Amino acid sequence: MTLPPPTHSRKDRTTRRSTSPVEGPLIRSLSDHTMEGPYSARFPSSPVGETSRRAPVIRGAADERAHRPRRLRRTRRTRSTERVACLMDRPPDPDFAHRPVMADEIVELFAPVPAGWVVDATLGGAGHASLLLEAHSHLKVLGLDQDPDALVAARSRLEPFGDRARSVRTRFDALAEVVAQELPPGEPVVGALFDLGVSSPQLDRAERGFSYRLDAPLDMRMDPAATRTAADVVNGYDEADLARVLRDHGDERFAARIAKAVVAARPVATTGELAEIVRLAIPAAARRRGGHPAKRTFQAIRIEVNEELDVLPVALEAAIDALAPGGRVAVLSYHSGEDRIVKRVLRQAETGGCTCPPGLPCACGAVATVRPLRRGGRTPSPAEVAANPRAASARLRAAQKLPTVEATR
Ligand SMILES: C[S@@+](CC[C@H](N)C(=O)[O-])C[C@H]1O[C@@H](n2cnc3c(N)ncnc32)[C@H](O)[C@@H]1O
Repeated sequence: MTLPPPTHSRKDRTTRRSTSPVEGPLIRSLSDHTMEGPYSARFPSSPVGETSRRAPVIRGAADERAHRPRRLRRTRRTRSTERVACLMDRPPDPDFAHRPVMADEIVELFAPVPAGWVVDATLGGAGHASLLLEAHSHLKVLGLDQDPDALVAARSRLEPFGDRARSVRTRFDALAEVVAQELPPGEPVVGALFDLGVSSPQLDRAERGFSYRLDAPLDMRMDPAATRTAADVVNGYDEADLARVLRDHGDERFAARIAKAVVAARPVATTGELAEIVRLAIPAAARRRGGHPAKRTFQAIRIEVNEELDVLPVALEAAIDALAPGGRVAVLSYHSGEDRIVKRVLRQAETGGCTCPPGLPCACGAVATVRPLRRGGRTPSPAEVAANPRAASARLRAAQKLPTVEATR
């Protein structure tokens, strides 16, 4: 089956690469491991197979990355239309640690859905996915992630669930194609989960180049085979574009000053250099407020590198479309830009895009496809934030697919 490439809204397509739906079964021959309880995610990994039609070959990529000069790492790309056993050679990684956020709420939210598949669009280390499978015997999980390290950890964690779990390396804007290709005909999608942003291992591993606290080459790609890196944004964007990125994706009030300082300091090679440039560009009084001074800049550049806000609405709409009646979609977002998109897409589905004046019966023919499960969303408990400060900015929004096509009002 030949799939068309996903459509994208951005003018610059040069950095696009595969969002690779895959062929064939995906979980196989996973090794034994022990499960851990909720709120803990330490994942021994195991050799697994991976298939991809358009994904780059990354056989032994972790090893290669460690020994290959930086210049080669960034420029060498291999495209493949053949089956890729790229994770088979990866060494076990005992340090993939990520605590699933609002795990109790997520487990509870999917309890009432009919039997079928939950698409976990941001599988990560399968923290949420494994909890769902443990708690709900009527559910199966199709997990997507673009990060091969996450998939290694996830596949190991999901092994005990056998054919109740599948995983695919892809960017989640290919959700519709992957669902069509992976799920047996007639088996419904009853849930979709998006836990947006980065995982703890992505942040905590210096070599991934995401962290302002660890010095490493500027990278920030969730998919190490993607073409554009943080270094390309930091050193390649003109000053106005860079300031726009910092403002739009980071709500950074000193965007113009930071962009000017970055351009003056080029070339900027490492996360440490960038963090220091940002720190010095921010007025001293402002540096003392609101956490690390480079936090918003790093968030903004990461979002730009991974095109996070471009792919989110595409994937969310596809997930809502895919849901069977009574199915639920849940989104955990971590900053205002993400949450605005989530609200907009859910609102559109709730109203069907009705344009009639409030209070009057709908005459425009709009059709609602979901109902919201709790207006305004939910946030983590103080206890959870105390135990896991990375949960602090989380907001959970959810909706349920309507049983039949219903008029908006
Ligand atoms: C916050 S982590 C998810 C953690 C997971 N819920 C768990 O409990 O282990 C987000 C994951 O989503 C992946 N991700 C983010 N954006 C993605 C996208 N557009 N397509 C595919 N994967 C994405 C990241 O690589 C990361 O592994």
